[in-house]
Amino acid sequence: MIIIKNGKVVTADKTIATDVLIKGEKIAEIGEKLHVEGSQIIDAKGKFIFPGGIDMHVHLNLYFCNSYSENWDSATCAAACGGVTTIIDYAIQQKGHTLKEAVEGRMKDAEGKVAIDYSLHGGITDWNEKTKEEMNYYTKNGIPSFKMFMIYRKEGWMADDGILFSALEETKKTGALIMLHAESAFILDLLMERYHTEELMKKYGAYCHSLSRPCFTEYEAIQRAATWAKVTGGRVYIVHISSSEGAEILKKAKADNVNIWGETCPQYLLLTDEVFKKEKGHLYATCPQIKKKHDKEGLLRAIKSGDLQVISTDTCTFTTEQKDMWNGDFTKIPYGMPGVETMVPTMYTHLVKRHKLTLNKFISLISTNPAKIFGLYPQKGTIKVGSDADLIIFDPKKEMTLDYKKLATKCDWSPFQGMKLTGYPEITISRGEIVAKDGKFIGKIGRGRFVPRKAGGKI
Ligand code: URP
Ligand code: ZN
Ligand code: ZN
Repeated sequence: MIIIKNGKVVTADKTIATDVLIKGEKIAEIGEKLHVEGSQIIDAKGKFIFPGGIDMHVHLNLYFCNSYSENWDSATCAAACGGVTTIIDYAIQQKGHTLKEAVEGRMKDAEGKVAIDYSLHGGITDWNEKTKEEMNYYTKNGIPSFKMFMIYRKEGWMADDGILFSALEETKKTGALIMLHAESAFILDLLMERYHTEELMKKYGAYCHSLSRPCFTEYEAIQRAATWAKVTGGRVYIVHISSSEGAEILKKAKADNVNIWGETCPQYLLLTDEVFKKEKGHLYATCPQIKKKHDKEGLLRAIKSGDLQVISTDTCTFTTEQKDMWNGDFTKIPYGMPGVETMVPTMYTHLVKRHKLTLNKFISLISTNPAKIFGLYPQKGTIKVGSDADLIIFDPKKEMTLDYKKLATKCDWSPFQGMKLTGYPEITISRGEIVAKDGKFIGKIGRGRFVPRKAGGKI
């Protein structure tokens, strides 16, 4: 048993000075002056007690752009060190294969390597009657969300409008959620092809990514998806929104009663496309690409107003050695960046300290809303009697400069290198076990479990 004393418990609704008693894996009691003989006492004086972060968008050990992203073990240890206690990864179907194969393959891959709890979204790349049946089966059996891609034609992952429309019709009946990577495939491919010349690549380098991906390549696709969700009555969630205009579409669609939700990521809130002009600018290639200053500002507004409900990271970690394989060709850079370990502290500094977001709103974005939308609530995403004891003891006064060398990830760079942080997770507790302290993993790899989720989630 553990009793956390003298801290301030922060949930999406309130902040209260109270003790928390953990028995086994669960929160057993919340109240003043708790005492149970023989308990371990954690003194949280001056600290916040947050529900564990939920990063519902990561890609671990994904073979993508000819490379494998960081594996489950080091990446989930890193997540724990940064205060994340649950991740949701993707089981992406291969063409000609079933979703079942993808899910079972992913679970086998994760087995024995996961340090915190995890779940999976399905990834649909081959839509047919069988896939539809499987989608409906998994919706009732622990995996009620499915990513579809409006791009990645060459990879064979793209869902066209007819497929998207049919899948959304199903979600109306079943309560499943379609998660969409929304970019305009044909225009994007055309623009990328235009910049894919020796002359332009020599001139602009990795900045070709910015030049070939204007905002309309995202917001046009979001608008189309919102239209299909409206007319089908289906349920859609737009992942990794990078443009201000994209977030505006969600605001309008919500006002029009469309079942639509969306996320953005730290890279879009903290960086601009100027990063591509740096000496190592190619490291920042991700998908979608980082946009302009006005997008960064618009996304912050959308986070503040609630037009975007979730912050996730889209972690897909490649080392500099892997990134360097581009050899000057912007279309060959492995897309993706590290982020799961730094989500909670960077977003606390940016949103709460710099932009005065309330603590409760911050918790809703990094924990409670993803738990509600993705069917984990109230097992996870809050601090309640009976919930899993997934907690962060957060030191709001800790000052540090973000340095990838001090992080637990195996990655040898960080997109947020040098960021001045105020506030950092001091202790991370996952299902009642202290798994990280002062940025070091002290739990056991392999202790993490698959968490089944419920359909129909919303906020
Ligand atoms: O660029 C990234 N983050 N790669 C992962 C695949 C995706 O589109 O989310
Ligand atoms: Zn994506
Ligand atoms: Zn992704």
